[in-house]
Amino acid sequence: MKIYIETYGCQMNVADSELVTSILDNSNFKIVREIDEADIIIFNTCSVRQHAEDRVLGRISNEMARKQTNKNLKIGVIGCMAQRLGENLQNQNKGIDFVVGVDQYKHLPEIISNIFENPHFESETMVNNKEIYEDLYPIHSGKLNAFVTIMRGCNNFCSYCIVPYTRGRERSRPADEILKEIENIGKKGYKDITLLGQNVNSYDFNNVNFAELLRRINRIETIERIRFVTSHPKDLSDEVIAVMAESEKVCEYLHLALQSGDDEILKRMNRGYSADHFYTIVQKLRKAMPEIAITTDIIAGFPGETEEQFQRTYDLMEKIRFDYAFTFKYSPRSGTKAAEFTDQVPEEIRLTRLQKLIDLQQDITLQKYREQIGKTKQIYVERVSKKSAEEMAGKSRDFKITVFPGSKELIGQFVDVKIIDAIGWTLKGKILE
Ligand code: 5AD
Ligand code: SF4
Repeated sequence: MKIYIETYGCQMNVADSELVTSILDNSNFKIVREIDEADIIIFNTCSVRQHAEDRVLGRISNEMARKQTNKNLKIGVIGCMAQRLGENLQNQNKGIDFVVGVDQYKHLPEIISNIFENPHFESETMVNNKEIYEDLYPIHSGKLNAFVTIMRGCNNFCSYCIVPYTRGRERSRPADEILKEIENIGKKGYKDITLLGQNVNSYDFNNVNFAELLRRINRIETIERIRFVTSHPKDLSDEVIAVMAESEKVCEYLHLALQSGDDEILKRMNRGYSADHFYTIVQKLRKAMPEIAITTDIIAGFPGETEEQFQRTYDLMEKIRFDYAFTFKYSPRSGTKAAEFTDQVPEEIRLTRLQKLIDLQQDITLQKYREQIGKTKQIYVERVSKKSAEEMAGKSRDFKITVFPGSKELIGQFVDVKIIDAIGWTLKGKILE
């Protein structure tokens, strides 16, 4: 039976789809890359904002039309929305055949076989706060870069966030298992890895903390580049900053979510740090790694946010100058604390504020890219450029897409490229011989 998986949301979902691919592959299902070939379509979903859920519900109802010509087609939902809504998802769309939550992926082969034998609706969304999918190794979708999950769940309960409810309590995978997985990946030719967790800085397994895990991964010979997401500012220690700076494989790149630049709002978000503390970390990072690129997440229009409080976020973004910012309009998530706050900011104001942040960041990002002109950057060559067959594209250590004249044989290699131009959010350069 052929299965097509469509993935939404964060990198954790991408990694989970790879895990699910491996679970299904072990049970002799075939994963296909074309939806037209599928007997089963699985949507791996995100709940972080209402918009994310609406989008996938729209996609699901579009694909339902296939059932008219392919009577045996089954459609399933996994991921955070499956976990959050469970069997109620069937009220959204009667055509959904199965719903499987984030801790129950091992049951997918059995559930799918069951519903083919005897067509019925099945839902398995029990929370298992211990599930770390031990001894299961994901099948990676890319050929050059791989995600490696180092922990699952989140204990932080930021007041706006649904993740601690959908993904359950934080648990770290055993360090040995992570190292073994990365060694295997390295043998297959992957040189660039991204460690994943909702809050990687609180990784802890039998007294191996995140800094120590990074040190150990840095020693794996075949791996050339290490990145990680997501870091929580409250748990990013000086030790981690030091290890980042001294480990040659850990890239000069960090995603560090600010969310707001106002202390009162940060408190109401339950973030556990002040704007000053955040700024201090940024300074430490830049001192330790002058070339570091820092990206962030910002929420506009959190409940109770006044114009002055919004302005503090704006000003701090201007002061820090992130390389990029993912900006979001606050979206109330039922069951979270912030959704209960009575001082919700009207939609139009949330949108106006969001647009201001987008405009500001766009200017800063363009400037940041232009500042790269004249520098020499090491590029991991990943593919032929979308615009020209004579050009290759890859990423710098600080995660900037760079395009330069070259041939396909370079794919998978590291080359030094002198940056000669920045066009929008792409660097242009030429290889140094
Ligand atoms: N509304 C808007 N943005 C949110 N995020 C998380 N929850 C919400 C919400 N309810 C954003 C945060 C987080 C990113 C992944 O999504 O900025 O860092
Ligand atoms: Fe959500 Fe906060 Fe956990 Fe991130 S750290 S997943 S924003 S609760």
